[in-house]
Amino acid sequence: MIKILKNLEEVDLEAARILAKQLILKPNSAVALPTGLTPLKMYEAFANFARSKIVELKDVHFFNLDEYIGLTKSDSSSYAYYMRANLFSKIAKVDHRIPKTNTLDPEKEALDYEKAIRSAGGFDLCFLGIGVDGHIGFNEPGTSFSSVTHVANLHSSTIERNTKQIGKSIPRKAITVGIKTIMNSRRIVLMAVGIEKAKVISQALLDDITPELPASVLQLHPNLTILLDEESAQKINSSANEFHLINP
Ligand code: PGA
Repeated sequence: MIKILKNLEEVDLEAARILAKQLILKPNSAVALPTGLTPLKMYEAFANFARSKIVELKDVHFFNLDEYIGLTKSDSSSYAYYMRANLFSKIAKVDHRIPKTNTLDPEKEALDYEKAIRSAGGFDLCFLGIGVDGHIGFNEPGTSFSSVTHVANLHSSTIERNTKQIGKSIPRKAITVGIKTIMNSRRIVLMAVGIEKAKVISQALLDDITPELPASVLQLHPNLTILLDEESAQKINSSANEFHLINP
């Protein structure tokens, strides 16, 4: 299902609502969380739901999708820092995991992380952003569809964009949840906003399914919700209408 909403605020509010509904229905859900600019207001809205006690968080298992290798969690470029600043400092203490990448053995941490996701029963719900190169998590173009959590080399366009976003240089490697792990989620919510995502959204949803565009694999997911703003939906509007995919 594709939902086209007016702007980033509406996309993020809808995502926060989906998360709240999931936790009302199944308080002990395992949920995968993204980072980046797209979900910032989702976390703000969700923290408000949590503070007003509409949702209980004591049994939830949150997992982040990825983390840069080599940063401590107090480094302001790390996703651990991002999550604390944007969500976890604003809500009661919850069960939350993010790959521990300040280690000499990131490969082992990737294995352990995958095991932890399995022990939690896999993801009930997985939120994803999308890179302009089609990455989901840090699964860059060329990543195998059968990948589980692994050490990934970041694409030059990702490094360039994220460096610009953060305002300082970032590591070249990360640990990311794999594509198979993502596809095993019981529900996936893909979020995209802004004109710079219009092309990749149309490629991911309407072109061939190929590892060269990792997000294209989502066409095969049986329970996929896509939240777009008007700008990111610009190139798919007419085709998606044809398939009755929009706002059913
Ligand atoms: P963004 O990042 O939300 O900052 O656009 C998305 C991503 O790279 O997955």
